[in-house]
Amino acid sequence: MKFAVIGHPIEHSLSPIMHHANFEALQLNHEYQALNIPPAHFHHIRDIAAEYALDGFNVTIPHKERIIPYLDDMTDEAKAIGAVNTVLIKNGRWIGHNTDGIGFVKGLNDYYGDLSNAKILIIGAGGASKGIAYSLSQKTSHQIAVANRTMARFDDWQFDIEAHALSEVDTIAHQYDIIINTTPVGMHTSTDQVVSLQQLKQDALVCDIIYIPAETAFLKAAKAQGYDTYNGLDMFVYQGAESFNFWTGQQADIDAMRQRVTKRLYS
Ligand code: ATR
Repeated sequence: MKFAVIGHPIEHSLSPIMHHANFEALQLNHEYQALNIPPAHFHHIRDIAAEYALDGFNVTIPHKERIIPYLDDMTDEAKAIGAVNTVLIKNGRWIGHNTDGIGFVKGLNDYYGDLSNAKILIIGAGGASKGIAYSLSQKTSHQIAVANRTMARFDDWQFDIEAHALSEVDTIAHQYDIIINTTPVGMHTSTDQVVSLQQLKQDALVCDIIYIPAETAFLKAAKAQGYDTYNGLDMFVYQGAESFNFWTGQQADIDAMRQRVTKRLYS
């Protein structure tokens, strides 16, 4: 089978090496390549998919919303989030799905254990936040709290959450078992922190969906105060594993995928 990731720019994508690690582990002869498609050429997407004989593909920045008009159908997740990162091509029909949130939540579930009673606060209200909030809301009995700098961001949310201003985080943070940064603050070489972390629950887990660097200033500060931390590498790995499952119906070899990406990124 043939797969791809479509984005712009795309040359730094780790998806091809990660998916090939899985194909090798499962002894599959599939292919997965990165295709750089700028927005101005995106309207050729159907021809491009036909040319490469794709059975499915991932969609990444900046096309996760742009792909929607080309789809025949969408999963409930993709509809609720309003963005697609995975397309399955089956009998000529294009089905859009979103595995970003599911990926984060599956990884978190494996790391943390049962999430059904956890009280969770998400910082940021962009696309990644929406996916994670949607998937978490299927897993926990408590309403998910989301804090954002700009309250207007919540206007197009299609499902219930408890919306907070970013400025409230310091006063409400002590109520939560899990706190997740989904903003890009702290990415790459930045040492910024989106909020300070004060007076959390003693056994709180502090998460960041960023995985470059492996430990953001946000996670470093949490660790220094004795809290357990969890970065975004698993989200990347599990979203890929979920895409593979959506395309093939098979379970991916998560460890093989994680090992290959970890080696490339951190060694
Ligand atoms: P993604 O799809 O990766 O989630 P996005 O849709 O651009 O990215 O969303 C980025 C999120 O990070 C938003 O919630 C944004 O807050 P605003 O809605 O107020 O713009 C948040 N964000 C980005 N930079 C930020 C900063 N310096 N401080 C606080 N929040 C920030």
